[in-house]
Amino acid sequence: MNIDYKINQAISAEQFADLLRRSTLGERRPVDDAECIKGMITNSNLVITAWDDETLVGISRSVTDFHFCCYLSDLAVDLSYQNLGIGKQLQIKTQAQLGPKCMLILLAAPAANSYYEHIGFKQNDRCWVLNRSEKIKI
Ligand SMILES: CC(C)(COP(=O)(O)OP(=O)(O)OC[C@H]1O[C@@H](n2cnc3c(N)ncnc32)[C@H](O)[C@@H]1OP(=O)(O)O)[C@@H](O)C(=O)NCCC(=O)NCCS
Repeated sequence: MNIDYKINQAISAEQFADLLRRSTLGERRPVDDAECIKGMITNSNLVITAWDDETLVGISRSVTDFHFCCYLSDLAVDLSYQNLGIGKQLQIKTQAQLGPKCMLILLAAPAANSYYEHIGFKQNDRCWVLNRSEKIKI
């Protein structure tokens, strides 16, 4: 199968949400909140997409400074294209856009928790999250 990879190819919020649903990651992303999905895709600054001809089959969506840190927020591959190496290629191509000191950081979905160790990520037990509903304690 010939998969094409594109760097920062514009895609619509609808295409993005549709792919999230087709990958199952849509269960953990605000796919029914059009404003949020639009903000997520339009304010990302490193998006690698995978295409089977005209069909969007994978995405790696990141926010990065390209020098120190890159937060890989959404990695998703259409269910019928999973386990073909597309997820790995999306991350290889993401990393290829980053400087030599730039680390990749992500929060794994429960179903993909073991995937990242399998492909070389190290777990960091000093990673902390403040959900939007929570406030900094003064
Ligand atoms: C997780 C995901 C991005 C991986 O992409 P992919 O293209 O299917 O995976 P790849 O082909 O690059 O990698 C396949 C390898 O990873 C392993 N793997 C794939 N999905 C895995 C998972 N969820 N958990 C653990 N290992 C997994 C495979 O067994 C395979 O191992 P091998 O190379 O030793 O044979 C994709 O399955 C997906 O979109 N899943 C649903 C959404 C999701 O959970 N995304 C991650 C959000 S943090």
